[in-house]
Amino acid sequence: MPSPSPEIIRLLSSFWGPLYKADTPLVTDAGADCALTDYKSYRLVPMITEETVTASAAILARAAQHDAGLWSPEVVFVSGQGVKLFDADGREYLDCLAGIAVASLGHAHPRLAKAISEQAAKLIVCPQNLGNDIRTAFLEKLFTFVPRPLNRAFLANSGAEANEAAIKWALVATGRRRFVAAKRGFSGRTLGVLALTWEAKYREPFAPYALEVDFIPYNDLAALQAAVSEQTAAVFLEPIQGEGGVNPATPEFLQAARELTHERGALFIMDEIQTGVGRSGRFLASEHYGVVPDLVTLAKGLGGGVPVGALLMTNEVAQTMPKGGHGTTFGGNPLAAAAGLAVLEEIEAGDLLAHVREVGAYFKAQLVALNSPKIREVRGLGLMIGVELKEKAAPYIAALKDDGVLVINAGATVIRFLPPLVITKAEIDEVVRRVAQVLNRG
Ligand SMILES: Cc1ncc(COP(=O)(O)O)c(C=O)c1O
Repeated sequence: MPSPSPEIIRLLSSFWGPLYKADTPLVTDAGADCALTDYKSYRLVPMITEETVTASAAILARAAQHDAGLWSPEVVFVSGQGVKLFDADGREYLDCLAGIAVASLGHAHPRLAKAISEQAAKLIVCPQNLGNDIRTAFLEKLFTFVPRPLNRAFLANSGAEANEAAIKWALVATGRRRFVAAKRGFSGRTLGVLALTWEAKYREPFAPYALEVDFIPYNDLAALQAAVSEQTAAVFLEPIQGEGGVNPATPEFLQAARELTHERGALFIMDEIQTGVGRSGRFLASEHYGVVPDLVTLAKGLGGGVPVGALLMTNEVAQTMPKGGHGTTFGGNPLAAAAGLAVLEEIEAGDLLAHVREVGAYFKAQLVALNSPKIREVRGLGLMIGVELKEKAAPYIAALKDDGVLVINAGATVIRFLPPLVITKAEIDEVVRRVAQVLNRG
């Protein structure tokens, strides 16, 4: 480990205050935290020394001087390889998070790295009001995966931006302002889509919103029937709720949403930002349900880590926006398009949709086979798996991180697994072994 400089040590001390460790055991019956306040009974020595500070801690202290203060990271990742990530201190982790469903091909994938570097050496900037070869190839490839009548795309830079575009198209296409969205749904954090995001802690501090939204319980057919009216511009749903707890829709719910929107002159928008690009074992999760929406939004896995968002639409919807009625500076730039094309080519060449179906079913079965009394339910599709516990998930997620497995919560009690689509059965076995270890210990 590189030795931190005296400046770093000074910075750490100014950030955390004087930290100490005891040279006699700190743990008493009341636990380590309590023992620290009871420090007089121990001989204390400064904890931050050139010998004890880690490279990660030094970087975190520097970052804390400038970041927006929204998070408190504890690990610093510096490289990755496939499903593995490495921190600044050389520790290895199995990544079952993939940047929240982003690193679809895993880390440092040769096809993706080559495509990006070759394109960077050729052309990075070319906005969508000018033609470009690689963007065209990307769009052509994208629509080999997507069911008709979806055949037009607006390219953006993120999920929220793709959803913002979907809202604008729905407004102009219908001339209506009311939306139906689901309780526990998540659509992003920008001011338009925040109106469709259910969680009060995200939505309420920034209210009121310009859109009128009727929230209905997910999978509730009667509530859907009652909410969709001649005033509804669009029904906006995730086929499997991600943030909301890894809740798959029932086929009846999505099929009813399709029929009702047709019947009442509204649009059906499917947010596939987390579920799309093969995550569920089909290119779009809505394909499992035999439902084709009028608009679909993609992002996350589409660029394998390079920011790429897309709003897919039918001809009929696309043509309702006047020329120049929407736009973006960076969306569809050649670098992003090269990344997107490489991801799609690898999904095809590696037969990744079949792979996800196979290893996803295996992963789920192995988790069920743990038969842990702490698990209430294992659910999900493909490599989007939620393990609902009978207690809070946070301590187990922290313990998994300590044991070298990265996962994330989905609500208070669900551990969410979103590994790269290329994860192998052997890697899954190792993850499940560590999950069992943590559940048995906790
Ligand atoms: C279903 C869904 N929609 C929208 C978003 C927002 O995407 P982004 O964070 O790229 O803006 C997310 C992000 O987690 C998501 O999961």
